[in-house]
Amino acid sequence: MEKILVGITGASGAPYAVAFLELLRELGVSTEVVITDPGVEVLRHETRLGLEDLSRLTGRLYREDEISAPPASGSALYRAMVVIPCSMGTLSAIAHGAARNLLQRAADVMLKERRPLVLAVREAPFSLIHLRNMLAVAEAGAVIYPAMPAFYHNPRDLDDMVRFFVKRLAEFLGLRVKDLPRWNGL
Ligand SMILES: Cc1cc2nc3c(=O)[nH]c(=O)nc-3n(C[C@H](O)[C@H](O)[C@H](O)COP(=O)(O)O)c2cc1C
Repeated sequence: MEKILVGITGASGAPYAVAFLELLRELGVSTEVVITDPGVEVLRHETRLGLEDLSRLTGRLYREDEISAPPASGSALYRAMVVIPCSMGTLSAIAHGAARNLLQRAADVMLKERRPLVLAVREAPFSLIHLRNMLAVAEAGAVIYPAMPAFYHNPRDLDDMVRFFVKRLAEFLGLRVKDLPRWNGL
């Protein structure tokens, strides 16, 4: 169970998804990706990358309508699924078990199989509905890992900020990242 399934939705934050895939590749971790149609659009807008570029960063790339692909079944073994970035629409579908595309179904499978599901949600501000949906998925076993950048490591630039976020996320998944800046006090 070594593969990590990465879900990419149409929330803002596509650079996080790209940086996360690059990091996992550097760490020698196999990945598969499922991307929604809005995810493809936002990826192009925010990173200028297309599906061909993305497919070079992962073992297999699935579109949202490939509902018979391996991530739709609990028999496919993924050690974790990370949705990065995770839109409020996808969060809602996961919170209500309304799996209408491959990404939502794969997340539903992770919850029913009691496997790690991490949602890097992105929105501002949150409505009461968003907050309730986050609570619902957390109660069902998912982890809300908000796409909120940190400043305490004094990032040099945006890339540094994004890399720090995905390195922390990788460590959260139990992967060891060598060059992560560690807090040593003020
Ligand atoms: C440039 C852009 C940025 C967006 N940013 C967000 C966002 O940060 N959070 C969010 O929930 N939706 C955002 N959306 C809206 C989602 O893309 C939209 O709700 C979409 O239906 C989500 O579908 P998906 O979850 O299947 O990808 C954004 C849309 C665009 C075009």
